[in-house]
Amino acid sequence: MKLFVDTGDVEEVRRAAEWGILDGVTTNPTLIAKSGKGFKETVLKICELVPDGEISAEVVATDYDAMLKEALEISSWHKSIVVKVPLIEPGVRLVRTLTEKGIKTNVTLVFSVSQALLAAKAGATFISNFVGRVDDIGNDGMDAVADSVAMVANYGFHSQILVASVRHPLHVVQAVNAGAHIATVPFKILQMLFKHPLTDAGLKRFLDDWNAAGLKIL
Ligand code: E4P
Repeated sequence: MKLFVDTGDVEEVRRAAEWGILDGVTTNPTLIAKSGKGFKETVLKICELVPDGEISAEVVATDYDAMLKEALEISSWHKSIVVKVPLIEPGVRLVRTLTEKGIKTNVTLVFSVSQALLAAKAGATFISNFVGRVDDIGNDGMDAVADSVAMVANYGFHSQILVASVRHPLHVVQAVNAGAHIATVPFKILQMLFKHPLTDAGLKRFLDDWNAAGLKIL
């Protein structure tokens, strides 16, 4: 499964990239606005920090012609850029156009299998299925993920199901169990994935024993 970091903060991307396990980055208009930096400048820095990654950058127009202009502009910035497009009628049409031009897309704000089907049929590279926002309103966001994973496999679509709106490590575990292709995870939750109390206790015991014996490697 691919792991992306979901952030507009270049420093967080730098730190996650250092671990050597990062496959890409997703941004959205809220995250870019929160970064306090320019859109193009931020996205290009992220592309440099994750050279072989897939970097999602989102259009903000909502009518087809304007969305197409933005998409072509954004995708011209760097070869790693994946154009992020909301699941609205002109968005699905845009994904079809971009697919025909060989431009990768990430269809965002997907909450149901029926929406995922439209994105898959349009040729979406990634389908961002939001889970946390569904959990927030008292439903299980992961249900649509498992069904969408089955849907793309059953019908031979090439789209990859990307679990988005991740709120805690259990969402990552559930994404794995659902067979999702990708999870995009906020930096602080990626850090939490490293943690296990038995790892800390085990390491402490190893080092205490080693030091008590006066051993050295170098
Ligand atoms: C996905 O690409 C979005 O950027 C993100 O996962 C949204 O998460 P949120 O619901 O925490 O805002």
